Amino acid sequence: MRNLKFITLLIFFVLSISIFANAQEVIGKLATAKYGQPKIDGEMDEIWKSTEEYLTDSYVQGTKGRVAYSKFRVLWDEDGIYIWAEVYDSLLNKDNTNPWEQDSIEFFIDEDNAKKTSYDANDAQYRVSFDNRQSFGTGASKEYFVTATKRTDFGYIVEAQVKMKTRKLKEGDIIGFDVQVNDADRFGSRVGIIAWNEVENINWINPSSFGNLKLVK
Ligand code: BGC
Ligand code: CA
Ligand code: CA
Repeated sequence: MRNLKFITLLIFFVLSISIFANAQEVIGKLATAKYGQPKIDGEMDEIWKSTEEYLTDSYVQGTKGRVAYSKFRVLWDEDGIYIWAEVYDSLLNKDNTNPWEQDSIEFFIDEDNAKKTSYDANDAQYRVSFDNRQSFGTGASKEYFVTATKRTDFGYIVEAQVKMKTRKLKEGDIIGFDVQVNDADRFGSRVGIIAWNEVENINWINPSSFGNLKLVK
């Protein structure tokens, strides 16, 4: 009897340790954001040049070389994050009435990186088109989104600030984060969905598919 109690306790102990360890684990890709405040104007500030560059290389729809993609960088301050994205897209189109089927880029935020399977109060989906038209998915609104876009010879540039809704950010934090490029063709149909982390086109309903953004100084 005493033995059984001991074994039950031991199992419980081992289980709780492994659950705790899993909670600390980073699931999905990890990017780092450096501390700093750029000016949101579509011009590359000096500070952007010292940041790490990441690539959207998850071809959720479309194949590499045939559809658009993006190289992006991220900064942060206490109020939110900043994204610099260069979108490589040789044909820009906004004919579709659905904003996600126009040439555009999306940013996904999970402020506490809870990675739940449905959106909670601190998750949000933001979108901006190549001609700076903003649109908002679940949890997003214009008071938290500042953007500038610029057309270039390779496609377009997006510079954006996404403000946090429920908290201040600090060094060492990891938030849930993803980037998605939508590529429209000349008929106004979406032919490409190119993400940084996710693989199934479920980010808009399921934050567990976001990657991770670590805030460093
Ligand atoms: C998805 C679309 C979805 C839309 C809703 C996009 O990220 O790719 O399939 O309908 O979000 O906002
Ligand atoms: Ca700038
Ligand atoms: Ca396009």
